[in-house]
Amino acid sequence: MRQDHVQIRHLENGDRDAVARFLDQHWGSLVQVVHSTVFRPAELPGFVAQRAAEPMAGLLTYEVRGDVLEIVTLNAAERLAGIGTALVEAAVAEAGRRGCREVRLTTTNDNTDALRFYQRRGFRLTELRPGAVTRVRRIKPEIPETGRHSIPLRDELDLVRSA
Ligand SMILES: CC(C)(COP(=O)(O)OP(=O)(O)OC[C@H]1O[C@@H](n2cnc3c(N)ncnc32)[C@H](O)[C@@H]1OP(=O)(O)O)[C@@H](O)C(=O)NCCC(=O)NCCS
Repeated sequence: MRQDHVQIRHLENGDRDAVARFLDQHWGSLVQVVHSTVFRPAELPGFVAQRAAEPMAGLLTYEVRGDVLEIVTLNAAERLAGIGTALVEAAVAEAGRRGCREVRLTTTNDNTDALRFYQRRGFRLTELRPGAVTRVRRIKPEIPETGRHSIPLRDELDLVRSA
C-alpha cells in the first residue's frame, strides 16, 4: 500500500525554506491566528512526511505549552494515502515523550474532512467558538468568507486527545 512508502522525520533547520513554501502554498499565509493566538508555523517544530522523489509529501507543525502539545498545521499533499494519520501519530508519540497530558488543535466549521479525520483518530470536540473566524477576519482580511464545500467560514472548534 502507498502509505508503506511514507517516512516521517523531525523537521530540521535546513527544511525552513521548503516549509515556508509548503505552508504558503497550502494556507496562502505564514501566519495562523486561532483561539486569539498568533502562530508562525514556519518557525515551529514539526514533522515532515517523505516519499520517494517527494521530499515534502506532508507537514505537521506544533507547539508545546506546559503539558499540552498543540497541532498548529497539518497538511497532506496527497489525500487518502495515510500521510495525515502517520503525521498525527508522530505528534501523539512526541507528546508522550515530552510528558504532555494532551494533544489539541483548532479547526474551522467548514472543515468537515478534518472533523471526521480527527474524531476517527481519537480526538474529541471540546469547544465551539461561534464567530471566532469572523473576528480574526477583521485583522486578516485574506481569510475567505466562504470555506470548504461552500460553507460560510465563521467558527472555531477545538479537538483534544489524550497523549
Ligand atoms: C485532514 C488531512 C490532513 C487528512 O490527511 P490524509 O493524509 O488525507 O489522511 P489519511 O490518508 O491518513 O486518512 C484519511 C482517510 O484515508 C484513508 N486511507 C488511508 N490510506 C489509504 C489508502 N492507501 N487508500 C485508501 N484510503 C486510505 C484512511 O483510512 C482515512 O479514512 P477514515 O477517516 O475513514 O479512517 C488532509 O485531508 C488535509 O491535508 N486536509 C487539508 C488541510 C487541513 O484541513 N488540515 C487540518 C486542519 S488543522
